[in-house]
Amino acid sequence: MAADTGLVGPFPDGSDPVEYDRLRRRVLWALPSGLYVLGSRAGNRRNLMTLNWAGQVAADPKLVAVSVEAGAVTHGLVHDGAVFSLNILKRDDRSVVRKFVKPLEDSGDPTDLAGFAVRAEATGAPVLELAVAWLDCEVRTEVPCGSHTVFIGEVVSCGGQTGEGVDILRMEDTRMNYGG
Ligand SMILES: Cc1cc2nc3c(=O)[nH]c(=O)nc-3n(C[C@H](O)[C@H](O)[C@H](O)COP(=O)(O)O)c2cc1C
Repeated sequence: MAADTGLVGPFPDGSDPVEYDRLRRRVLWALPSGLYVLGSRAGNRRNLMTLNWAGQVAADPKLVAVSVEAGAVTHGLVHDGAVFSLNILKRDDRSVVRKFVKPLEDSGDPTDLAGFAVRAEATGAPVLELAVAWLDCEVRTEVPCGSHTVFIGEVVSCGGQTGEGVDILRMEDTRMNYGG
């Protein structure tokens, strides 16, 4: 971070840090991405968190990476429990992502998490009943990346519908941004 501006470098020679920061943010926001709900569990603690930094990173084994803010409750749960679920939503359900931006109250009911119907699949990480498709993963590698940690998980179970006629929620279906 540049001490005098509070902005994150590096900056190209001769650039105005403020203008460059604005441009870089817009270009980063232009990266197409999905929009998911990440389920986590460690012992009897569970959470669901809105996340767009996710993607497949290997084919053999089947590995999926998610990037989680170091200070998030979810970070502690994925680190301790070494599992996560990645819930894929229908475009029509875009409004629910607003519900998962802070830690949830967990009554301990295995079928409900903060008013959302959930179930446990192979790993015990909560899978949303309203998810159109889901991946259940066991963490194989953790990569610290400054503000975030990338957790790389192997797909151990999955389900749901995809393909023609199923409209999957993507970041561009909302007016939201993250990171940049
Ligand atoms: C549209 C959107 C996308 C987000 N993407 C991510 C993400 O990829 N990684 C992340 O750590 N937090 C992301 N967040 C922030 C988290 O949803 C959450 O607010 C924060 O990390 C706290 O999580 P916690 O409930 O586990 O403490 C996103 C938030 C929004 C609104």
